[in-house]
Amino acid sequence: MRTNVIIIGAGPAGLMLGRLLELAGVDAVILERKSPDYVLGRIRAGVLEQGTMDLMDRAEAGTRMHQEGLIHHGIDISFDGDRHRVHFTNLIGRHVMVYGQTEVTRDLMNARKSPTIYEAEDVELHDFDGANPYVTYSQNGVTHRIDCDYIAGCDGFHGVSRQSVPAKSLTTFERVYPFGWLGILVDQPPVADELIYAHHARGFALCSQRSPKRSRYYVQVPADENAKNWSDTRFWDELRLRLNPETAEALKTGPSIEKSIAPLRSFVAEPLRFGRLFLAGDAAHIVPPTGAKGLNLAMSDVATLADALIEATIEKSAAGIDAYSAKVLQRIWKAERFSWWMTSLLHTFPETGAFGRRIQRAEFDYLSGSVAAQQSLAENYTGLPS
Ligand code: APR
Ligand code: PHB
Repeated sequence: MRTNVIIIGAGPAGLMLGRLLELAGVDAVILERKSPDYVLGRIRAGVLEQGTMDLMDRAEAGTRMHQEGLIHHGIDISFDGDRHRVHFTNLIGRHVMVYGQTEVTRDLMNARKSPTIYEAEDVELHDFDGANPYVTYSQNGVTHRIDCDYIAGCDGFHGVSRQSVPAKSLTTFERVYPFGWLGILVDQPPVADELIYAHHARGFALCSQRSPKRSRYYVQVPADENAKNWSDTRFWDELRLRLNPETAEALKTGPSIEKSIAPLRSFVAEPLRFGRLFLAGDAAHIVPPTGAKGLNLAMSDVATLADALIEATIEKSAAGIDAYSAKVLQRIWKAERFSWWMTSLLHTFPETGAFGRRIQRAEFDYLSGSVAAQQSLAENYTGLPS
């Protein structure tokens, strides 16, 4: 078998890349380790920047997003009970949309016309530093080979693509945070119209949502915490303690339909091109979820990569693929900075002591009182230009 591009991974990045390539007449096969149901079963944030909304429309997969997505004109940030609304639309004329990543993935799966090979095991990348790369994988005990022109590693942080690059060719940058997010999904109406990011001496909390009838809440927990230690009652009691009184009072609780802990990490690999292999999405970088950048950064990577691979395949020009890594790393590092800043402002870091908390309080007070600071937050949260 032969194709123009082999995409490793059928998460949002791989599916979006595949869709953009097929619309441009570039053949691409996606190899995915898991089943479609497994991929759709992942619970992930869904705050879409305008750029991601536009990309869904370019992929001709945006209809349901526009029907069901929730437009949000701002967020609330609170610090020890003091609350301030950052009104994106008033500040910079832009907004975001709340639409679950699962739904983005489902829409892209449904739009795709080309082959996606699910439950592909033992994927291996070969000769991507030469002119004739190929990939092998096994299924039902049979090993298959696909020859191609390019390979796109969209297989996430734990994928095979980045691990296939010789260590001497890769530089990684990482910060692992000493805490995680314990998240709960509940079929109850959200406590507020928009998201509430709360800093409290007991730890960070986030009030988010999936629809008018389904809410998502998080509390900061130690990195080594186990979700089994948290009954629903313990979660709701802790969440109330971290919110201001009127929000805590208004909280509608119920039995959790999902409860899990996600670790927080900042990570970037450089460069993102190795001959005919390109890394995009979580395979290339990880951001702490505080800034809601993970999905949006993956989408902006593949928008650039799609244009580069279309140009290389159709117009036989290498300009786009030669520029890919430097171009996307510019935006990646700005998103890393913003996600690190939001995380540093909103979480408790016992190791920084009383001085550190005063600095966080001063940051909140400055943000609350400065239009310029709020515009900066709004620019970053709604998405910097690509
Ligand atoms: N072979 C084939 N597929 C693989 C392999 C492998 N060796 N390893 C991983 N995969 C698949 C995973 O099963 C997953 O479906 O690659 C896909 C990667 O998807 P994501 O991890 O969702 O990464 P990405 O598409 O870049 O999307 C980033 O997803 O994890 C969230 O917070 C993240 O919102 C961000 C978004
Ligand atoms: C979520 O709804 O899961 C969510 C929203 C915003 C974030 C992180 C997660 O910053």
